[in-house]
Amino acid sequence: MTIAAVITAAGSGTRLGADVPKALVPVHGRSLVEWAVAEASTVATDIVVTAPRSHLEAFRAALPGVTVVAGGADRQSSVAAGLDALPAGASIVLIHDAARAFQPAAVMRATVDAVRGGADGAIPVVDVIDTLVTAPGRDGEVGDPVDRAQFRAVQTPQTFRVAAILDAHHRGKPGATDDATLARELGYRVLAVPGHEDGFKVTRPADLSLAKDCATRRQAEHEIESGAARLSREDS
Ligand code: CTP
Ligand code: MG
Repeated sequence: MTIAAVITAAGSGTRLGADVPKALVPVHGRSLVEWAVAEASTVATDIVVTAPRSHLEAFRAALPGVTVVAGGADRQSSVAAGLDALPAGASIVLIHDAARAFQPAAVMRATVDAVRGGADGAIPVVDVIDTLVTAPGRDGEVGDPVDRAQFRAVQTPQTFRVAAILDAHHRGKPGATDDATLARELGYRVLAVPGHEDGFKVTRPADLSLAKDCATRRQAEHEIESGAARLSREDS
């Protein structure tokens, strides 16, 4: 079963306001898209990254072995461009935001396992931590409280059987907010798996300090893992 990933990185990062596209912003020695690709590579064998047309060469130089294609004007058209570039044999695809560069591989694997188990798709969700109210009226009066236990915030990767998501993109209404919605509208069964706080989306400048914490921790974990692997090789 070939597992592929489409990593969307073609946005400009207006809210972050850096002088390079958001996915190229360095965090603890690596760009966001490199962190995302490194984590996804432990789950997927074939990776397609969508990049801004103006920066294709910079992305290709940073990501050896990865297929880099130009994204579109909005995220959904970037996803479509990424799906077009999937290798012929791929049976499961993770659709993941480079901006969620620190989503742990364990969450990615959980989405894949749900699809392997028979679902058409699977997405990570997390509890909503803020108190929620409906939008204020025209008079400015605060809206009514909403029971947040009824809601979940959606992360990526959104993972699908390739045939299901290709069909959804082919037949679905343009303008869907995400791939899971598109697939569900056509009757596909999409399961929720627990997401992770490290799967937050780097959006505004303050998010970069959180990203740096994640990167430092991630690097330390990998050093411990490779140290342990070396010790066990030396033992045998
Ligand atoms: N994305 C994409 N193509 C687009 C727009 C967004 O591939 N035309 C990607 C982004 O690169 C990002 C992910 O979709 O990894 C989620 O989008 P978002 O966090 O909104 O990133 P930007 O659109 O770049 O940021 P902003 O909305 O602040 O401009
Ligand atoms: Mg955006």
